[in-house]
Amino acid sequence: MKKDFLSLADLSKEELLELLEVAATQRLRVTSQILKNRHLALYFEKPSLRTKASFETGIGELSGTFSYFSATDAGKLGERESAEDLARTMNGYFAAIIARVHDHIALEKFAAASDIPVINALSDREHPCQVLADLLTIRGELGRLDNFKLAFLGDGNNVALSLALAAEILGFEFMLAGPAKYQLKFDQIKQSENINEVLANADVVYTDSWTSMGDEAKADEREATFRPFQLNADALKKAKPSAIVMHCLPAHRGEEITNEVIDSKQSIVFEQAANRLPAQKALLIKLFSQAKI
Ligand code: CP
Ligand code: NVA
Repeated sequence: MKKDFLSLADLSKEELLELLEVAATQRLRVTSQILKNRHLALYFEKPSLRTKASFETGIGELSGTFSYFSATDAGKLGERESAEDLARTMNGYFAAIIARVHDHIALEKFAAASDIPVINALSDREHPCQVLADLLTIRGELGRLDNFKLAFLGDGNNVALSLALAAEILGFEFMLAGPAKYQLKFDQIKQSENINEVLANADVVYTDSWTSMGDEAKADEREATFRPFQLNADALKKAKPSAIVMHCLPAHRGEEITNEVIDSKQSIVFEQAANRLPAQKALLIKLFSQAKI
């Protein structure tokens, strides 16, 4: 495995499948000593509940300790000092850095200047830790990680990109329905403004907030533009009757998803949230099992 986990594309297919095998064992909340005497940093420029809580719990279950830097302590990478100077400084104290940042490019610079592992806990480009948990959830629900179709409704943002990269690695079908202006900027991804076409035959229907952290200034315009792509009961009927509903959370009920859908039997959003813990424990285990660290 590479030193850092900044993108889903940092993993080969073999590494991803192995990591998910380990994650499946971690659902039993097993503890280990793998992080004993290791102190990790959580450097979070943006708010978080699930990512923060699951990393902190996971580090504890692996016998490690951590320091948490909130937006007030952390500031934006490169703002108070350069990303590189910050990385070199933090390397003096920590065994790994888990970072939630505004600017993915700054995160890449930070990781390049760091000798210790850097984990992307969400950037403006990707949310790879989320998608590890999503794949673990899909594996549990469908019993497979290929031969299925995932329909994503809404914003072609960080979560959508990490899912699309996962599809490329594992070979499942990914399609995004959203306004052309907010689609992913990658030619090889199947995208459409036709929600029916995207939902047809879908095994998994996924959505995310219309206004991500950092995009708040355009919330009103986004709300109007994304409205036709809401995951509501009518939309869900266009997918397979057995389709599962996923959302990374936090959900904005009545916007990207309705109460009826998120509270339906098809929804597995809280299993998905719970799976953040085993997925991230597996990531830490894989990163710290490597001899060079
Ligand atoms: N899904 C997710 O990353 O949630 P938080 O923003 O609460 O961490
Ligand atoms: N796309 C959302 C995901 C939140 C977990 C955001 O970046 O705010």
